[in-house]
Amino acid sequence: MCGIVGYIGHREAYPIILKGLQRLEYRGYDSAGVALFDGTDIKLCKTKGKVADLEHRVKDEISTKGTLGIGHTRWATHGVPNDVNSHPHYSNSGNLVIIHNGIIENYESLKKELLKRGYNFKSETDTEILVNLIEDVKINEGNIKLGKAVQIALNQVVGAYAIAVFDKTKPDEIVVAKLGSPLAIGIGEDEFFIASDASPFIEYTKNAIYLEDEEMAIVRRGKDIKVRKIKDDSLVDPYMQELQINLEQIEKGGYDHFMLKEIYEQPSAILDTFRGRLRSNEAIIKMAGVEDNMKKFLNANRIIIVACGTSWHAGLVAEYIFEDLARIPVEVEYASEFRYRNPVITENDVVIAISQSGETADTLAAIKLAKSKGAFVFGVCNVVGSTIARETNAGAYTHAGPEIGVASTKAFTTQITVLTLIALRLARAKGTISSSDFRTHLIELELIPKKVELALKSDSLVQTIADIYKDTKNFLYLGRGYNFPVALEGALKLKEISYIHAEGYPAAEMKHGPIALIDENMPIVVIATKKGHYEKVVSNIQEIKSRKGKIIGIVTQGDESVRELADHVIEVPETLESLSPLLTTIPLQLLSYHIAVMLGKNVDQPRNLAKSVTVE
Ligand code: F6R
Repeated sequence: MCGIVGYIGHREAYPIILKGLQRLEYRGYDSAGVALFDGTDIKLCKTKGKVADLEHRVKDEISTKGTLGIGHTRWATHGVPNDVNSHPHYSNSGNLVIIHNGIIENYESLKKELLKRGYNFKSETDTEILVNLIEDVKINEGNIKLGKAVQIALNQVVGAYAIAVFDKTKPDEIVVAKLGSPLAIGIGEDEFFIASDASPFIEYTKNAIYLEDEEMAIVRRGKDIKVRKIKDDSLVDPYMQELQINLEQIEKGGYDHFMLKEIYEQPSAILDTFRGRLRSNEAIIKMAGVEDNMKKFLNANRIIIVACGTSWHAGLVAEYIFEDLARIPVEVEYASEFRYRNPVITENDVVIAISQSGETADTLAAIKLAKSKGAFVFGVCNVVGSTIARETNAGAYTHAGPEIGVASTKAFTTQITVLTLIALRLARAKGTISSSDFRTHLIELELIPKKVELALKSDSLVQTIADIYKDTKNFLYLGRGYNFPVALEGALKLKEISYIHAEGYPAAEMKHGPIALIDENMPIVVIATKKGHYEKVVSNIQEIKSRKGKIIGIVTQGDESVRELADHVIEVPETLESLSPLLTTIPLQLLSYHIAVMLGKNVDQPRNLAKSVTVE
C-alpha cells in the first residue's frame, strides 16, 4: 500500500502535492518523493523516511516551481526502503517519470526482456520496470502517444496498480491507470488532481471520478478528461460524483476508526499476500525465501516459532498447519520466554520469527539467540526492511499494508496466509500431502478473500450482540484444534481495546477449572465450525447451557445443532478446517471493535499500548 498524488493546472503543484502526501501518509510512510516539471525539465527529489524528511530535502535540493507534478509516499513491497527504491522513478531516457501503488507480479519476466533490450535499472522495484516497459513500447511502436504506450504496456502486466506517469517532452498531460489499487481524480476549473483517495484535493474541488479497475485516464491542461478501458481502448463515460465527506472520514476511507478499516481490508490484504505466490491452475506455490532454502526446511528436525501477542497466536495456528500438512514437529514460544530460558537449539532447527512491525525487542533478541546457536532463522514480517526482516537469514513478507490501529487485525490473517503457503509448499516437497489435497487447498485459499467478505456481512448482527453484552465484566472464548488459537486471539482483542477481562481456552479444558466461572451472567464465545471437532464442541456447548451461560456460537453457514442451543449464532462460510481461522477470527474482531466503541474507548490507541514494542 502506498499513497499517490498528482496535479496539473494553473496553481503551483508542490504545495498541493506536499499537503496531499501528508494526508496520505497513513497509507505508507517508509519513503517519499516528488517530481515537478519546472517549465523546462523534471525536478525530482526522493528520500527514505517520512514526508517531513522529504520536505527538508526538497528545501535544500530542488526548485519547487511548476504547475505539473506527482508525488508518492511508500510502503515497500519490492526492495527495502531507501532513497533509490523510493518513487518517482525515471525511465532510462529520463523523459518519463512514474509513481505506482501496487505490485507487478510478472516483473521478473518483464525485467529479463528489458535487460535483453539494453535497459538497466537503478532500483530493486517493480515500478522502475513498468516505466521502462512503457518507454520501450512508446519507442518501438514509432514514438506513439504516452496514453497509447501506457495502454499497450499495461496489457502485458499482471498484478495490481494505480499509476500516474508524465512525459517531459509533452508536459501538458498526466496519464493515470488503475487495477486493484484506488485512484481518485478531482476535477477543478482547468485543473486536475490525482490521488489514492480524495483527501489531497477536498479543499479545491468536490467533483471527483473514482476510476474503476482496468480503466485509465488522460488528464490534459485545459481539456476535458478522457477515460478508457485498458483492455480494448474503448471510451468510458465516467461517473462524476459530488464528495460529501470531510477530511477525517476520507483518511480513514469513510470508516470511523483505522481498526475497522483494517478489518474490512482483510479480503484485499489476504489476496495481496498470496498474489503472485500461488497458482491453483498450475498447482504451484512459489516463495523465493522458501525455494532458496528448501534444504534447510526439509532437513529440519523441528520448527521453532517465536513471536509475541497476536503474532504468537498466528504461530499457534501455524503449529497445527505445519504438523498436520507437512508433518514437521513444531514448538511455539513466546519470544520473551525463549530468549531467557537457555533453550536447546541446534543447527538442524529452523526458527520462524513472526512480527508485524519487525521491531519487537523480544522477538529480535530471540532471533539473535537462535542465530548464535547456529539455527537458520526465517522471518515473517509486514514492514519491509524492518530490523527483524534484515536480521533474519531469509523470509517472506505479508502484504497487509500499514496497520495503524494498535490492535492487530489484518496482520494476523495475512501472517496465517503466509504460514499456510509455507506449510503447503513444504508438504508438497516432502510428499506428505497428495496432489489432489494440495490442489484443493490452493483452490480453497484462493476463495478465502471472497469468503472473508461474506464473513464481514455479520457486522450488524455482531453489533446487536455487542450491545447486549457490552456491560459484562468477563468473557470466555472457547475453541478446539485450529480454532483454539482463534479463541485466544478473540479474547486478546476484547481485552486490549475494551478493557473487559476475557480468557481464551481450549474448549475441552473448560471442565478443568473455568467451568466454575459460568453462570447466567457469563457470555461465552464458542467457535463451533462444522469441520474439526464439531460434535465434541457441541457437547461442550451443552455443558455451558446446563450452567446457564450465555452462548455466542461462531458456526458454519447453515448450522442447525448449535443454533438450537446457543443464545446467538454468527455464521461464517464453509471452508477447510485448516483455513477456518481466516474466517472465524472476523466476527471476533468485529465483536471487540463494537463493544469498545459502545463503551467509548479509544479503539485505535488503547491505553498503555504501543504499536511496536521496542523495549523489553
Ligand atoms: C495485539 C497486538 C500485539 C502485537 C505484539 C507483537 O493486537 O498488536 O499483541 O501482536 O506486540 O507485535 P509484532 O507483531 O509487531 O512483533
